[in-house]
Amino acid sequence: MADGIQLKTRGELQAMRASGLVLARALDAVRAQIAPGVTTAQLDDVVAAVIAEAGATPNFKGYHGYPATICTSVNDEVVHGIPSARVLADGDLLSVDAGCILDGWHSDSAFSVHVGAPSDESETAAAEVDMINAAWRSLWAGVAAAKAGGRLGDVSFAIEQSVNKSGADDGRRYGSVSGYGGHGIGTEMHMDPFVANQGKRGRGAKLVPGMALAIEPMLTLGRPATKELDDGWTVVTRDGARAAHVEHSIAITSDGVSVLTAPDRGAAELAAFDIEPVDLDG
Ligand code: MF3
Ligand code: CO
Repeated sequence: MADGIQLKTRGELQAMRASGLVLARALDAVRAQIAPGVTTAQLDDVVAAVIAEAGATPNFKGYHGYPATICTSVNDEVVHGIPSARVLADGDLLSVDAGCILDGWHSDSAFSVHVGAPSDESETAAAEVDMINAAWRSLWAGVAAAKAGGRLGDVSFAIEQSVNKSGADDGRRYGSVSGYGGHGIGTEMHMDPFVANQGKRGRGAKLVPGMALAIEPMLTLGRPATKELDDGWTVVTRDGARAAHVEHSIAITSDGVSVLTAPDRGAAELAAFDIEPVDLDG
C-alpha cells in the first residue's frame, strides 16, 4: 500500500493484463454488433458471452445491486445506463462500459461511438464526433501523465488541460463532468484513489510503481451538471446535452506506463507523447 493505494507486483500486473485483454476482446465483439435495430440488452449478452467463454466473470453485475454485465449510456446518458429492450437508432450516441474479473483481477474499460453512420451533413453529429475525439485525447493525455514519481494531480490536470485545448481547437465548449471519475483498480473494481478529471499539477497522492488506475473522462456538449434517474443508476446531463465517456485501465511501473485494456498497450496513441508503453510480459 502507498497512501492507502494497493500496489501490485509485476506478476500481479501481468495477471491484470490478462484480465484487460479478455475485456478488450469483449469490447471489440460488442463494437461489431452495434447497429440500428439492436437492443442494448443484446449488447449486454454479447459481452457476457465473451467474458464467460474466457473463464472470467463480469464485475459490474451485482455491484451494489447493478443488474447487468455492461453499462450502455445513450445520448444524454453519461454513464451507468442499464441495458434494456431499448432499440438503438441511427445517429444515437452510445457509450459501452464493461469490466471483468480474471483470476481475481479486475479490468474496466469503455468507449463511445455513433450507432450507424452519423451524417456529415449534420452539425450536431460533427460536434459529437469532435466530442468523442476530445474525450479520447484527454484520456491519452492522462495516461501519458501517469508516471512513477509524479502525482495523481498531474493526471487530472493533464485530462483537464487536454479537454480545454480540444475545446479551443474545435471551437466548442465541452462540459467536463466532475461528480464521477476514474479510480484505483486491482482486487476490486473501485479502489482508492479517486481519479478526478480536473485537478492541479503536483497535488495528490504520489504515483509509485505497482499502482493500477482506471482513467475515465466524461464530456458533454453542454453544461457539466448531471443527475441520477429514478432507476438509481443512469446518470444523465441536466440540460439534456449529449455526452461521451471513454475509459482504460492502466498500470504504472518503474519503466513506464502500460495500458492494460488496450491490445497494443497504448503504443499507437502514446507515440504522440513519445512514450513507448511497457510490455509487462517482456
Ligand atoms: N466503469 C464504471 C465506473 O467505474 C463501472 C460501472 S459501475 C456498475 O463507474 F455499477 F455499473 F458496475
Ligand atoms: Co471505471
